[in-house]
Amino acid sequence: MVAILPYTANFPRTDNGSIVRAQVYQQYAELIESLYTAEARAEAGLQIDLAETQSHLLRLCWDNLGISISSVDADLFSEGINSQKATHLRRLILQHFRFDPCHSPSQNMVFEMGTISQLAQYICALQSGGIISTAEDTVSLMNDLIEKYSLFRKHLTCPETPRRTKSVLLTGATGSVGAHVLFELLNDDSVSTVYCLTRKSSPLKAVRRSLFERGLLLSPEQTSKVVGLNGSLERPDFRLDPVGRIFRHMQDSVSLIIHTAWPVNFNLPLTHFEPHIRGLYHPIGFSLSVRRLKPAVMLFCSSASSALGASSATIHEEPLDLDSAVMGYGQSKLVGEKMISLARMLVVPSGKLASVMLELAESCFAPDRDVGPNRASEPSGVARVDDSIYHVYNSRVFSWPELLATLRRNGFQFQTVTFEEWIQLLRESEARGEEKINPAVKLIHYYEMIFGVVSPIRQNGTRVFVTDKAERDSVTLRNGCLSIVEDEVLDCYARNWYMRWTNL
Ligand SMILES: NC(=O)c1ccc[n+]([C@@H]2O[C@H](COP(=O)([O-])OP(=O)(O)OC[C@H]3O[C@@H](n4cnc5c(N)ncnc54)[C@H](OP(=O)(O)O)[C@@H]3O)[C@@H](O)[C@H]2O)c1
Repeated sequence: MVAILPYTANFPRTDNGSIVRAQVYQQYAELIESLYTAEARAEAGLQIDLAETQSHLLRLCWDNLGISISSVDADLFSEGINSQKATHLRRLILQHFRFDPCHSPSQNMVFEMGTISQLAQYICALQSGGIISTAEDTVSLMNDLIEKYSLFRKHLTCPETPRRTKSVLLTGATGSVGAHVLFELLNDDSVSTVYCLTRKSSPLKAVRRSLFERGLLLSPEQTSKVVGLNGSLERPDFRLDPVGRIFRHMQDSVSLIIHTAWPVNFNLPLTHFEPHIRGLYHPIGFSLSVRRLKPAVMLFCSSASSALGASSATIHEEPLDLDSAVMGYGQSKLVGEKMISLARMLVVPSGKLASVMLELAESCFAPDRDVGPNRASEPSGVARVDDSIYHVYNSRVFSWPELLATLRRNGFQFQTVTFEEWIQLLRESEARGEEKINPAVKLIHYYEMIFGVVSPIRQNGTRVFVTDKAERDSVTLRNGCLSIVEDEVLDCYARNWYMRWTNL
């Protein structure tokens, strides 16, 4: 879309002559809005059959997003639709197709459907007043995934000579939690080797950079404990080396697996997480295949979103019902928790404090704890309650006004509005196509689901995560919980955010 302005038109500039984008958007908001409305009016109102809807969607992708989708069943994200383009495509769909106000498409429609053929079916079903998927469908899909990925081979006990040190397999060391976990492991004298499995082609370099960027500095001795491995969790042998030498060596030595790799994406539907669920299945299988006295202990970082939809506001350190999870992300994590429960291993919802995780792992090494996999192939309605679920959670919470006050104290200037007003502003920003300069518009669906009027939090109250077991087994959680405001942790965050914000 192009609007021609008179040559006398003014626009805000910086001292060196470049455009001050935010002010320009503000100054010309009305004009921009009118362009979108005019385009919407010109195209709106389509209600065509399924095949024509598919063709029209393919055309929209090509003409407006510059993406040629190879087939109606191709995965849109593999074809190059990222979250920004998904927001744009949704806007185009709203402009081109007719929808009854009672059946307007979901905010997350492109992510949820994932292919042109599903998207076309969704549009046609909505236009004829149908409903596409229900919560029961999701729970049944979760059950299918649990069943598909919960058949494990029993661990065969191998005699071994007692060792003073241990080897660890860590995934996700290039991410935030994984980098801190690695740092803690390397500071632990009882750890001799950490195998860092990553999809990066220069694994050791990537892992070292990840720590360096977070200010986690290593001595040469610590660095020598790290073995960087390029591989894939989607394969039982992690595709490490063609003859399997490293894999066999790991089977002889690894006694702890910490799995933190996972796409942290709040828009993707559950179906898109299947490769990562498979990527959890194989480390579990590996833990049961080690040639040691006991299976390797497995730590899985779940997420608070696996519990945010629970009907009760108090969340205990116990297995959850499948309908407790929100978003594909939370649902995938809950599927993971169930798989681990079925493999009779350790589950850690919400991974935050690296040292806490290691302490919890220690308690799982304790000889009186039964982590044997004997019940690995029990059906998903496990009869025995899994006692290996911990909430790694700071029980000292703080309020929203305290956060706002901290932000102001550290230089941020802003106007305070209600949640509903803010969402409305985001929607207007979305309608103006501002997903690039205002990335929050890509998460409208997420914010509404978590904080909107129909959210479980509004309906059942703020979630309280019970941390009794975690505090019992972790001295860091028991004694070291910081008061986020009084101990100035929030100020540190705010200063860091402000520095990045002003350097943009
Ligand atoms: N941060 C939190 O507050 C928090 C809270 C609760 C739970 N968690 C959980 O903790 C774990 C780590 O979170 P984080 O905050 O550290 O996330 P992060 O910084 O985004 O790191 C994610 C890690 O997962 C890897 N990963 C992502 N997508 C992948 C894929 N498709 N295949 C293979 N590896 C992939 C990344 O590897 P690349 O470098 O190759 O992309 C990276 O190492 C996640 O499981 C998350 O759900 C985090």
